[in-house]
Amino acid sequence: MSLLFSPTRLGPLKLQNRIAMSPLTRCRAIDNVPNELMAEYYGQRASVGLIITEGTSPSADGLGYARIPGLFSPEQVAGWRLVTEAVHAKGGKIVPQLMHCGRIAHPLNMPKGSRVLAPSAVAAKGEMWTDSEGMKPLPVPEAMTEADIKQTIADYVQAAKNAIAAGFDGLELHGANGYLLEQFLRPNSNIRTDAYGGSTEKRARFVLEVADAVIRAIGKERVGIRISPFGVFNDMPLYPEMESDYAYLVSQLNERGLLYIHVVDHSAQGAPVVPDSIKATIRKASNCHTILSGGYDVARAEADLEANRADLIAFGKPVLANPDVVKRWQTGAALNTPDPQTFYTPGPKGYTDYPALG
Ligand SMILES: Cc1cc2nc3c(=O)[nH]c(=O)nc-3n(C[C@H](O)[C@H](O)[C@H](O)COP(=O)(O)O)c2cc1C
Repeated sequence: MSLLFSPTRLGPLKLQNRIAMSPLTRCRAIDNVPNELMAEYYGQRASVGLIITEGTSPSADGLGYARIPGLFSPEQVAGWRLVTEAVHAKGGKIVPQLMHCGRIAHPLNMPKGSRVLAPSAVAAKGEMWTDSEGMKPLPVPEAMTEADIKQTIADYVQAAKNAIAAGFDGLELHGANGYLLEQFLRPNSNIRTDAYGGSTEKRARFVLEVADAVIRAIGKERVGIRISPFGVFNDMPLYPEMESDYAYLVSQLNERGLLYIHVVDHSAQGAPVVPDSIKATIRKASNCHTILSGGYDVARAEADLEANRADLIAFGKPVLANPDVVKRWQTGAALNTPDPQTFYTPGPKGYTDYPALG
């Protein structure tokens, strides 16, 4: 019997199956506001058990890429309501991924008056696309003051309340892939000497304060987190204490009883291997469900569910390219091939026009 296709519960949520849609930035939110086109896209994919949206900023300062959505203005809440209604109408569940880009941002992609913030004034190596001037080097961010830290936590809280107001079933904190939360965790991007930098505990403090504040606002059963131990994306090099740092973080998340811990593993794309030992540590955190992701197909997903390594498996590119991926997998039909040329371009091409089976 297939575990992948059988219904399950994730905390308070009844899911149609154990398939999650991985968060996928698609850059279709003109002026950072979700729209009808995005509602159509997510609605098309509502047969997966849990949709995790693209990275969505909790504040104007947290924006960074061109055309990514936010969840901090009334227009954005109204836009997201179109999305959650489209998904719920088809029996799906959906959470936004709250992504504060931190130093992975360019002012040309951000509203006037917003700031590129990070734990320390250390630029990430690399460039970013801007609609007005093409590729630009990533800027040196401003090191956050204590007041900035307080304000940013307040922004996460407001975004969490907005998520519930927009009809979401919870939220995912983006603690992975080199964005603000991970910038605090890692010693290359966090060289602070105050209570938020230095030791393992101090580097984890901001993430845990954000988690605590959001939990107070909407409840622990509605808050998940995505983390990327051993991830190197966005200029986050490996370092000796990686595994013990993440073991500490996971033990603290477990104490808080978050809804889930979602593990990124991009080794299928050539990134460093994520050791089984850290995945096992996460699985042992029994107060939180586990989601594994990265390079999965049905056979490997079934095997990992069968071996009780995870509660859900998240898939990115297969869901991106196949609005009816669940039906295709269940019937053994061929899959559409994702087109990287249209991953981040505006408009419906390569977004809502991937064909579904008749
Ligand atoms: C177009 C694209 C956009 C992505 N955007 C995000 C994002 O916003 N947040 C995130 O955590 N990961 C993001 N990722 C990573 C995916 O969530 C996922 O981890 C990755 O695609 C590997 O899974 P897959 O092999 O099933 O595609 C993105 C990946 C792609 C291809």
